[in-house]
Amino acid sequence: MRERLEELRDEALAKVATAEDVKALQEVRVAYLGKKGPITEVLRGMGKLSAEERPIIGQMANDVRDAIKVEIEAKETKLEEAAVEKQLATESIDVTLPGRPVSRGSRHPLTAVIEEVEDIFLGLGFTVEEGPEVETDYYNFEALNLPKDHPARDMQDTFYFTEELLLRTQTSPVQARTMEKYKGQGPVKIICPGKVFRRDDDDATHSHQFMQIEGLLVDHHVRMSDLKGVLETFAKRFFGEDRQIRLRPSFFPFTEPSVEVDVSCGICGGKGCRICKQTGWIEVLGAGMVHPRVLEMSGFDPKVYSGFAFGMGVERLAMLKYDIDDIRHFYTNDVRFLAQFKRV
Ligand code: PHE
Repeated sequence: MRERLEELRDEALAKVATAEDVKALQEVRVAYLGKKGPITEVLRGMGKLSAEERPIIGQMANDVRDAIKVEIEAKETKLEEAAVEKQLATESIDVTLPGRPVSRGSRHPLTAVIEEVEDIFLGLGFTVEEGPEVETDYYNFEALNLPKDHPARDMQDTFYFTEELLLRTQTSPVQARTMEKYKGQGPVKIICPGKVFRRDDDDATHSHQFMQIEGLLVDHHVRMSDLKGVLETFAKRFFGEDRQIRLRPSFFPFTEPSVEVDVSCGICGGKGCRICKQTGWIEVLGAGMVHPRVLEMSGFDPKVYSGFAFGMGVERLAMLKYDIDDIRHFYTNDVRFLAQFKRV
């Protein structure tokens, strides 16, 4: 029996040593240590042994069982560790791989232009005002010297909610609103960016909704040359130092005199080309000296105060600065268009 047990032990240990996976070990365990295994069988035959031999063989059988168990467990741990090692080796993360770029959006070109214009005017001592897009007939027209039935209203037909309430056709109503707030006390130095609306047929250069930036300066002894100086400074800062401006007589009911302001063409440098229609100049805004009636209606004494105002189209500024050929690009949200302004 002694030999039989030793034989079984050596056999089992050899199988443990060559077992390649946990499953093979499990088989060894069942085969040698299970209830129907050979060791149990040896123990069953112990009845035939003498009383002296019985405890010795019993002890030996237990030792063999323990030895096999210990070996199986040790091998099991080894196999598990090897499995983890292997997994670590194959699943390792290569930290030197370049990261995947996060696709970031960009500011809308119109927002970028408004912020740039704001920066320029803040630098000149102006502050930024806001006004409502749904405006009253009074502020949009009457306070700007356009009484009811005035023919100049035809230039800016709009969307009415009621006879007295409409979508503003211009940012100029903010002139009147701001002057009222200042209660006849200058100086007033503001700009106001915002959306405006007109009943218009949409095409490459027209939209029923667009954006303007209004400017208003009211103080003692404000002259036309101040207007020209401010606009020239703006044009050079916004478009480039090489640009000139020119003023052409025009008409707005709320300014007198009124002008259209052109900037020299950046494509041909003023020589004349297709973009400027061979004139060398591109129109960018309307302006003028605030009409005395407008000052008066908003609580400023025209004998004490004078001022200038201007209104520019934001889309127009953006189109000229970035060579955009169709105003509709601004509103269709095509990312191929928008992505071009990432660095602006
Ligand atoms: N509000 C005018 C327009 O929309 C522009 C303008 C503003 C003209 C201020 C003069 C002074 O056409």
